[in-house]
Amino acid sequence: MEKVFQIAVDGPSGAGKSTVAKAVAKKLNIEYIDTGAMYRALGLKILDMSVSMDDEDALRTLLGKTDIDFVDGNIILDGQVVSGLIRTPEVSMAASRCSAFPFIREKLVKAQQKMGESKSVIMDGRDIATAVFPNAKYKYFITASDEERAKRRYKELLEKGEDVTFEQVLKDIRQRDHNDMTRDASPLKKAEDAEEIDTTNMSIDDVVDYICRQVKL
Ligand code: DC
Repeated sequence: MEKVFQIAVDGPSGAGKSTVAKAVAKKLNIEYIDTGAMYRALGLKILDMSVSMDDEDALRTLLGKTDIDFVDGNIILDGQVVSGLIRTPEVSMAASRCSAFPFIREKLVKAQQKMGESKSVIMDGRDIATAVFPNAKYKYFITASDEERAKRRYKELLEKGEDVTFEQVLKDIRQRDHNDMTRDASPLKKAEDAEEIDTTNMSIDDVVDYICRQVKL
């Protein structure tokens, strides 16, 4: 039987992690797990239920009644596919804010560990190499300049018909970087043994090829 391994991909918003991880998964025929989608699904529910991010008790109650899973690459929140609802700027910010609560991270990290322990996976997020799979065989920290990341995110949002300005997207990216890097619980940082890949001047294909060449199946 093929040995199970994990590829951990961390980095800030808009660095290209999910595009790269998805393509690597396809090439290597392993599963891709988008952990950001799990925080986003929870953020969506918090917004929909109008629960305040300042009300920790209410957040705990809501978390206890929340079920998040993946089926065929779709993110499922309480039995409903929500893949098409979680990429808005409001949900991005809600995901970033709720992900700062240690009790929320604890539940989602446990679920992620379970998803990646019995089959080979490439998982992307902020704490995969530092908290979810500290013993992952392959660890990458994917970055790009904040302007380049905002440019990519702005293009993506325009293509989806969102009404946004570049300045707002850049401001949001910087705000999320700040939230993600300064929170007490598993802040975004490069694991000591992760390899940093700056994608500012690289194509997606270059990054995918680079990673695939290193992975020994
Ligand atoms: O990767 P993303 O932009 O979809 O993630 C949305 C938010 O979720 C991000 O601002 C921080 C949080 N997140 C996290 O804290 N830990 C992860 N493993 C993945 C995402």
